[in-house]
Amino acid sequence: MAVKITETILRDAHQSLIATRMTTEQMLPIIEKMDKVGYHSVECWGGATFDASLRFLKEDPWERLRKLRAGFKNTKLQMLFRGQNILGYNHYSDDVVEYFVQKSIANGIDIIRIFDCFNDLRNLQTAVKAANKEKGHAQIALAYTLGDAYTLDYWKETARRIEEMGADSLCIKDMAGLLVPYEADKLVKALKEGTKLPIQLHTHYTSGVAAMTYMKAVEAGCDIIDTAMSPFSMGTSQPATEVMVETFKGTEYDTGLDQNLLAEIANYFRPMQEEALKSGLLNPKVMGVDIKTLLYQVPGGMLSNLVSQLKEAKAEDKFYDVLKEIPEVRKDFGEPPLVTPSSQIVGTQAVLNVLQGERYKMVTKESKKVLSGEFGQTIKPFNPEVQKKAIGDVEPITCRPADKIAPQLAKFEEEIKEWKQQDEDVLSYALFPQVAMEFFKHRQAQQTKVDVNAADTKNQAYPV
Ligand code: CO
Repeated sequence: MAVKITETILRDAHQSLIATRMTTEQMLPIIEKMDKVGYHSVECWGGATFDASLRFLKEDPWERLRKLRAGFKNTKLQMLFRGQNILGYNHYSDDVVEYFVQKSIANGIDIIRIFDCFNDLRNLQTAVKAANKEKGHAQIALAYTLGDAYTLDYWKETARRIEEMGADSLCIKDMAGLLVPYEADKLVKALKEGTKLPIQLHTHYTSGVAAMTYMKAVEAGCDIIDTAMSPFSMGTSQPATEVMVETFKGTEYDTGLDQNLLAEIANYFRPMQEEALKSGLLNPKVMGVDIKTLLYQVPGGMLSNLVSQLKEAKAEDKFYDVLKEIPEVRKDFGEPPLVTPSSQIVGTQAVLNVLQGERYKMVTKESKKVLSGEFGQTIKPFNPEVQKKAIGDVEPITCRPADKIAPQLAKFEEEIKEWKQQDEDVLSYALFPQVAMEFFKHRQAQQTKVDVNAADTKNQAYPV
C-alpha cells in the first residue's frame, strides 16, 4: 500500500527550527502549489503556532487558519491539540474544550491530532467526542517514551482502548526522536495487533535515526508518516519529504508524489532558510545530530530550555547534574513521557533540586499540581515520600481532572466583552489571557490608525 505523507512545514518544522516564527504572509504564496502535491494532510495549526502568532507575530491565529483554508482547496488541514490543555499549559473546563474543537473545525481544520502528556486517555475524551460530533477526524496521539512500564503489551492495549474511544486514527508521537528503527518495527506490529485504525508515525530527526525509523515502520505496516520539505527538515525537525518520497519510489509503498513539484516548493522555502540562518533565527546547531537526546532521553527543546535556565542562574557548570536529575524526578512523578507541559515541569523541578543542593526543598506550583493528580494519572504511582513532601496532607484527586473544573466560558466571555470582534476571540483569551488582551489592544490601535489614514486620503482627494 502506498504510504501517505503529512507535510509539517507550516507547523512543526518551523516550530522546531525557527521558534514558530513563520508568518501567514510567508506561507500564502506557496499554498496553491502545495495543494497540488497530494499530501495526506498539511499540518499547519495548533501546537505553539497559536501562542507565537498572538505573542510575537501580532497575527490572529484564526485569521491565519481561514486564509490557509481558502487556499488549500483539495488538501486536508491538520492541527495539534493537547487534550484537556487545548493549546495551553493547564486543564480547561469541558465547555472551553468543546467550543475550541467546534471553532477549529468550523474555521477549516479537518484532522485534529489530540494527545495528553501523561497518555491519560481520560484527558482526551472530551476533545475526541467533540471532534466526532463536529464530523472532524479525531486522531489520538500517544506520546512515545521509554521505561520498563512501556512494554509492547502496554502500547497494544492502549491502541485497543483508543479505537474503543472513537478515534479515527492513531499516531505515535515521538517528540524526542527516541524510537529507533528496529523498535519501530516491533511497535507498529504490536499496534496493528491492537487496532484496525490507520497508524501514523511522527518523529524528529534530533538523534539522527528518523528516516531509517520511518522505513522500518512503513515496512511493518505504518500507513502515514510526517515529513517536512527539505529546507526546514532534519535536525530537530522531521525527515525531508523529498527524501522519503524517493526512498519508497518504485516499491509497493510508492507515495506517487511528484518530485518536480516538490522541488519547486523547496525552491520557495530555501531563501527563507538562508535568511533565518543569516539573522540567527535558525541556529546551525539544531540542524545537526544531537546524540544526547538518546543518552538522556530528553527532547531537544527541553535541553535548550535547561541551558537558558542554568545560564540565568549562572550555574551552567551544573548542566550534567541536571541531566542526571531529570530521570530521577521523572521516576518520582510516575515516569510520564516528557512532552509539553510535563517536560517543562520535570525539567524545572530537576533544575531546582540541583541548584538548592537538596531534592524537593523547593517545589514548583506545577510540580505540586502533578503530585495532587491535577494533570491526571501517570503510568506508575508517584513516589509517596516526594508527594507527601510536596503537598502535605492535601488529598490528591484520582478522578478525571476536568470533572473538578466548573464551566469557564461564560466568565471569559464577560471579561473580554468590550474587545470582542469575533466569536473566536474568547478562545484566544481563554488560552492566553494576557497575550490575547495585548493582541486585542494592538489590533484595535491598528484599526484606528487605518481609519485615520483613510480619512486623510479622502480629504486630499477632495480639496476645498
Ligand atoms: Co513534533
